[in-house]
Amino acid sequence: MVHLTLLISSLLPLLALGHAYDSEQTVLSSSASGRPAKSIAIVGAGSGGLAILKTIFDLPEDVRRDWEVVLYEQRRNVGGVWLPDPPGALPRYPELPESPTYPLLHTNTPHPTMTYIGFPYPPNTPLFPTWDHVQQYHVAYAEHHNVSQYIHARHRVAAANWIGSAKGGEWEVEVHVQDPERHTDVDEPVRIFKKSFDHLVVANGHNHYPNIPQWDGTDEWLANTPAGTPQREIIHSIYYRRPERYAGRTVVIVGAGASGRDAALQVGKLARVTYQSLRPGNDPTPGAKVVPKPPIAHFNRTSVVFEDGSALHDVDALILGTGYEFRVPFLSPPHSSVLAVDKHTTLNSTTARTLVTNLRYIFPTHRHIFALHPDIPPTALAFIGLPVLVANCPSDIAQSLLVAHAIANASILPPREQLINELVAREDKLRAEGLDPYYVGHRLVAEAESDHEYQDAVVQYLKDVGALPEDGKKFVEPWRRIGRDNSRLLGRAWERVKERGEENKWLEGVRTEDEWADLMSRLTEWQRAYEEEHGVPEFEGQSVWYL
Ligand SMILES: Cc1cc2nc3c(=O)[nH]c(=O)nc-3n(C[C@H](O)[C@H](O)[C@H](O)COP(=O)(O)OP(=O)(O)OC[C@H]3O[C@@H](n4cnc5c(N)ncnc54)[C@H](O)[C@@H]3O)c2cc1C
Ligand SMILES: *[C@@H]1O[C@H](CO)[C@@H](O)[C@H](O)[C@H]1NC(C)=O
Ligand SMILES: *[C@@H]1O[C@H](CO)[C@@H](O)[C@H](O)[C@H]1NC(C)=O
Ligand SMILES: *[C@@H]1O[C@H](CO)[C@@H](O)[C@H](O)[C@H]1NC(C)=O
Ligand SMILES: *[C@@H]1O[C@H](CO)[C@@H](O)[C@H](O)[C@H]1NC(C)=O
Repeated sequence: MVHLTLLISSLLPLLALGHAYDSEQTVLSSSASGRPAKSIAIVGAGSGGLAILKTIFDLPEDVRRDWEVVLYEQRRNVGGVWLPDPPGALPRYPELPESPTYPLLHTNTPHPTMTYIGFPYPPNTPLFPTWDHVQQYHVAYAEHHNVSQYIHARHRVAAANWIGSAKGGEWEVEVHVQDPERHTDVDEPVRIFKKSFDHLVVANGHNHYPNIPQWDGTDEWLANTPAGTPQREIIHSIYYRRPERYAGRTVVIVGAGASGRDAALQVGKLARVTYQSLRPGNDPTPGAKVVPKPPIAHFNRTSVVFEDGSALHDVDALILGTGYEFRVPFLSPPHSSVLAVDKHTTLNSTTARTLVTNLRYIFPTHRHIFALHPDIPPTALAFIGLPVLVANCPSDIAQSLLVAHAIANASILPPREQLINELVAREDKLRAEGLDPYYVGHRLVAEAESDHEYQDAVVQYLKDVGALPEDGKKFVEPWRRIGRDNSRLLGRAWERVKERGEENKWLEGVRTEDEWADLMSRLTEWQRAYEEEHGVPEFEGQSVWYL
């Protein structure tokens, strides 16, 4: 079988992170005793990890004096999902690629709504940029804020164990240093060391462990590729790279989430026929050349059989846009006992005696941030970036503010019992809306907890306890809110701008946050007027995903 390769630009700017190799110690300044006042390990240098790193250094100097801060990133550079796999053969299941990024990937939200506060994208960045702009944005953010020196690239956290009790203790963190010459081999360390920390902040992302449904008969179907045709295949979207692979073939795309939609749009143009298998209530991707089908029931030697009894006998390939699982392997067995993994758990936030992931929801966690493990103080273990369906960078900053201040002063948080009660109240609110909190997980779909309200509430809490000055403002700026709410309209506007070749005209002179906000507002009006006159256009190849 042909291995897919992702040809990335060799010009991709890299941070000079290699120097972090010879020093495990990154102490800001040593206290008299020689031991840092607080030590913090951050895992991951995607949007979330960079947000907490920068936010810690924004604390007043007298607050963070003698703190030791280290960020471990297993890959070669910052950027998380936006940093593609290195060039070369893509691994095959069960080995996982480093990133789900593919060459045609661009954002589904306008970039001004996706930024860290006060740090807009560079002038002339297309409104819906490709992945490389987003990756470079993260590099620029780390460099601009002078935090690169704390980032240890090619350092994988392999295990983290809490030695202590609910009253106190420390993390024993096992780190595997990867060979810089061998990009893909994340599991063969050249060196292993252990180090203790007071606080662990986990920003490991949630687009890394594919959720792969199991159907009866797949082995049989895969083993019976008709003579003279390419090997049949079933891949998860994390392995999807180029639509050309599917030219002239018959393809089934499973799912209507962001990944399924993008694959449908791209593959639909080149394949002989593209089917999209959808759950009841989901529509086929607008603008995509696809034939809708119900969910798959099973496979047999010749066919893919659907729940309505229909069958397709000529399918060559399936792409599963079936999402990802919430896992933190270094906190889970066999490496650690902090986070139990149980897809069908009957435990809940009041009965669990450890942290639990049912692969959709890590609980009990307060505000999707603080781990309420009965034997670990809440500020000792925090997550950044668990919420889904939010604008990440601003949300990561809101969360980071709370985490940084709670690390500085644990008394800003009420005791664990009260945090649990607040969490149970949140779960009850979701149920009152007819949602199952253990299925919804970290998706901010409840009316009681939408994207912007969530961020506002996190930051307002800090004002209420006096950790931040009360300025009478909401955290999420009005323009960001409007831009995000109008993402789809703006997507259609930008497609029209591109068709007319007018990108430069619109982008000219746009530099500051206010100017980007103004651009979105002008484009919104321009497109509204057009759509009122002509109706909503259906762009062939329009690839703006739903939020
Ligand atoms: C294909 C795709 C398209 C998307 N498009 C959009 C979009 O258009 N708009 C939008 O708002 N959001 C989008 N998102 C959401 C995206 O997840 C966020 O934008 C954001 O980049 C996530 O950042 P993160 O830091 O939480 O996670 P990640 O980017 O996944 O970063 C986590 C980092 O942690 C590192 N790490 C993990 N485990 C370890 C370990 N044990 N030791 C050391 N390091 C470790 C990883 O290597 C990685 O670098 C998209 C996501 C995907 C997958
Ligand atoms: C980063 O460091 C440089 C040189 O020390 C300094 O000039 C600059 O102001 C710093 N940037 C920030 C955002 O602190
Ligand atoms: C597979 O199932 C379909 C639909 O039920 C049927 O038409 C087809 O004959 C079956 N093929 C085999 C080899 O059993
Ligand atoms: C810590 O937070 C508590 C509760 O908000 C507050 O009373 C106390 O003054 C804070 N301590 C410091 C040093 O800021
Ligand atoms: C958890 O389960 C117990 C026992 O089934 C039940 O009494 C309790 O109300 C549940 N709590 C939550 C938060 O769901």
